[in-house]
Formats: sequence, C-alpha cells, structure tokens
Amino acid sequence: MIVLGIESSCDETGVAVVKNERKILANVIASSLKLHSRHGGVVPEIASRMQLESIAGIFTEAMQIAKIKPAQIDLVAVTTHPGLPGSLITGIAFAKALALSLGKPILGVNHIHSHIYANLLYPEKIKLPAVALVVSGGHTSLFYLKDFSKIQVLGQTRDDACGEAFDKVAKIMGLGYPGGPLIEKIARGGNEHKIKFACWGNTELDFSFSGIKTAVLYYLKDKKPGSKLLKDLAASFQESAVNVLVKKSLLACKRKKVKHLLIGGGVAANGVLRQKLMASAKAAGINCFFPNIDLCMDNAAMVAGLGGYLYKRGARNDFKN
Ligand code: KG4
Ligand code: ZN
Repeated sequence: MIVLGIESSCDETGVAVVKNERKILANVIASSLKLHSRHGGVVPEIASRMQLESIAGIFTEAMQIAKIKPAQIDLVAVTTHPGLPGSLITGIAFAKALALSLGKPILGVNHIHSHIYANLLYPEKIKLPAVALVVSGGHTSLFYLKDFSKIQVLGQTRDDACGEAFDKVAKIMGLGYPGGPLIEKIARGGNEHKIKFACWGNTELDFSFSGIKTAVLYYLKDKKPGSKLLKDLAASFQESAVNVLVKKSLLACKRKKVKHLLIGGGVAANGVLRQKLMASAKAAGINCFFPNIDLCMDNAAMVAGLGGYLYKRGARNDFKN
C-alpha cells in the first residue's frame, strides 16, 4: 500500500510517500523557521501563509522523488491535531482535495502519536507493548502503547513543554530560536554541575518545566555573564531537563513492566538525552529506540507510516465531507 502523508501542524510543510507502512520513498519538508527566528518563536500567520504558498510544489517534488504518479496513491493520511489551527487547515484542505480528486480514502492522524511511530520507519525489531516519551516544542508526554490504536497517557507536562523550555531559556540567554540546538551547542564543554536546577516531582509521571525556566531567568538577573558562565548555565539547564526525562521514562517502564522504550519529537534530537537515556535504559535492561535526527523533527513520513498502519488495521474516520 502506498500512502501519501501530509504534515502542517506548526511551521513545517511536509509531504511524504511511504510504502507498506515502513519504507520511505520520499520525505520532503520545507520550514519557515528562518522567518520566525527574529521573533523568538513561531508566528502562526507567517507559518500558515508559507504553507499555503508551498504545499502544491512540495507535493509535486515528493511525487518526483518517489517516482510515482498520483493515481498510484492508495491512501492520503494527514495530521489533524494537535497543532496551530491556521497551519493544520492548509494540510487538511489539500489532503481532502487530493483524496477527492483521486477517489482515494483519507485518514486523519494524531501528530503526537506519529512522533512515536517515527521509530517504526527503521528495520529495527520493535515489540509492543512499550512505553513512549514524546518530547517536543508543544508536548512532553509519556504513553503506554499496547498498539497504535490503544495509546494510554501516563503523564504529561503541567505547564511548559520541554522543547518550549529550551526555546524560552535560549531566548532569556539571548541565543535565538529554536533554542534546543543552540543550547546544546553552547553547552558543549560547559560544566553541567556548576548550577543546580531542580525539576519538579520525582515520583510523578507528569512533568513541569516552567520552574526551571524561571530559575534561569532569576539566576541571570543583575548578572553580566561571560561566555564561560553562559556555557555552564546552558550545560546545567540541559543536564536537569535531560535527567528528569531519563528518570521518568525509566520509572514509567518499571511501573508498566515493559522492556521497550520509544522516544520521539524534536528534543529527541538532543545528543545528551540520546546518550544518557540509551546508557540508563541499557543498565536497567530496557531496549531504548530513537528515530534518526531528521525523523525526530516534524515530518510527513511519520504521518504516512502511521496512517498506513492504522488504516490496514481497520481505522476509518469520516473525514471526506
Ligand atoms: O517535534 P518538533 O519538531 O515540533 C513540535 O511538534 O513541537 O520539536 C521542536 C522542538 C523545539 O522546541 C526545539 O527547540 C526542540 O524541539 N529541539 C531540541 C533540539 N532540536 C530541536 N531541543 C533540545 N535539543 C536539541 N538538539
Ligand atoms: Zn512535532
């Protein structure tokens, strides 16, 4: 089965073609990130305008890369939620028009669940049930997966998402946007034990990241930090955020008695998180999986993959009218 996936939940416009749920034939993504960086965050109007202008061209490019004709598409899968309304609607309208014109079915897909599915776009042997951690700019959630149609929320953030905290701390430090990669970069060589930042709740599976962001703000108040202190600050913040993600992911595995842990979302691109979680999971006898960096970020291949997987197992949503 050939599935065309469409993703437009935030600043990206993605179109992908995935065959038989796991083989990526094309995965084209355009981002309006540069246009947002001077504003310190995504401006919804700028994102949706660019998506409207670019989606048709990105679709054509995906067809060319996949070397298929539109008539060969068996299913159109599109992100329906959660996301910026003005951005989602562009992808949904395009998907509906395409499915209607081709006479093919359409399936709406949950963006957060598709971040977990990104792990299945590799030849790894992933067994369910598993615990999944989705850690992105908009979400920080732990899930228990019996399969992709039975996903139970174990914990989620009570305030800022982890990626959002990286973005806000980077803004406070004057680094720019998006904050995650910039913090990771300047944290290299910094002393991660220099400043102690506590992240909330040791026994809960919920998260809270707004306190640590505020702690960074107060730490910098009335200081003119040199580059060494900024390095240490970035490293210390990153260390605390990563530690809480590692601790709670392993706690969730222990509570649910599972041996498979799937990670997804933009923050999963963080090298320190990848290395620490891999090592701690291994020590606890848990198999931990991360997508490649490009599939951690928003993309349409994960949407096409999950759409195909769910459709094959009977999922339908009356989405045509
Ligand atoms: O999944 P994603 O592309 O979009 C959402 O669904 O939100 O995630 C974007 C988020 C941003 O907050 C960005 O700062 C963060 O992922 N991010 C990182 C890294 N790369 C991206 N956070 C920490 N370290 C990174 N290397
Ligand atoms: Zn995302």
